[in-house]
Amino acid sequence: MSGRSRLSVRRARAGDVAGVAAMRRALLAEHADDRIFGRLRRDVGRRNLGAVRAALSQDDRLVLVAAAGAALVGTLECAVARNHALLTSEHVGYLSAVYVRPSARGRGVLTRMVSMAERWCRARRLTELRLHTGANNPLSNVVWERLGFAVAEHTRLRAIA
Ligand SMILES: CC(C)(COP(=O)(O)OP(=O)(O)OC[C@H]1O[C@@H](n2cnc3c(N)ncnc32)[C@H](O)[C@@H]1OP(=O)(O)O)[C@@H](O)C(=O)NCCC(=O)NCCS
Repeated sequence: MSGRSRLSVRRARAGDVAGVAAMRRALLAEHADDRIFGRLRRDVGRRNLGAVRAALSQDDRLVLVAAAGAALVGTLECAVARNHALLTSEHVGYLSAVYVRPSARGRGVLTRMVSMAERWCRARRLTELRLHTGANNPLSNVVWERLGFAVAEHTRLRAIA
C-alpha cells in the first residue's frame, strides 16, 4: 500500500481524526501485553476519538501525521507539559501516542516527526523533550536512544488491589 509512496509529515487536520484514532488503536493493540497499556477500558473507541478531537483543538498540543499518498502511516503527539514546580524550565515538550505503520517503518518517519515536534517546541522556547517508553518494548528503547533520548528516570509500579 504505502511501501514506496512518497512520505510527507504535516500537522493533523480535522479530517484526520479517524485515521489518527485508528493508529492509536493499532499502537495499543501492539502493546496488549504491556502492564500499563494493556488495561483498556471497554469504551476505548469512543474515548480515543474524543481524545484525538480534543488534542487537535488545543493550542498547547501538536498532533502530527505522516502520509503516504492518501494513507496515513504515522502519528505523534507533542504537548507542552508542566515541569516540577521547584525546577528550572517551567514547561517541557512531552511526546506521546507515537506510531508508524509496519509498512512504513525504518524509512525515517519517526525521525521526521520528532524533528517537526522539536521545531514546534523551540518556537515555544521549550528546551527539553521527554517521553515514556514501555520497559518491555526493546525496539522503542533502541529507537529513542538512536534519536538522542537518554533514560532519565524509571516508572515503578506495585499493584495494591
Ligand atoms: C518505534 C517506531 C515509532 C519507529 O518508527 P520509524 O519511522 O521506523 O523510525 P525511523 O525510521 O525514523 O528510525 C529512527 C532510528 O531508529 C533506528 N531504527 C528504526 N527501526 C529500527 C529497528 N527495527 N532496529 C534497530 N534500529 C531501528 C533507525 O535506524 C533510526 O536510527 P538512525 O537515524 O541512527 O539510523 C515504530 O517502529 C513503531 O511505531 N513501533 C511500534 C509502536 C511503538 O512501539 N511505539 C512506541 C514508541 S514509545
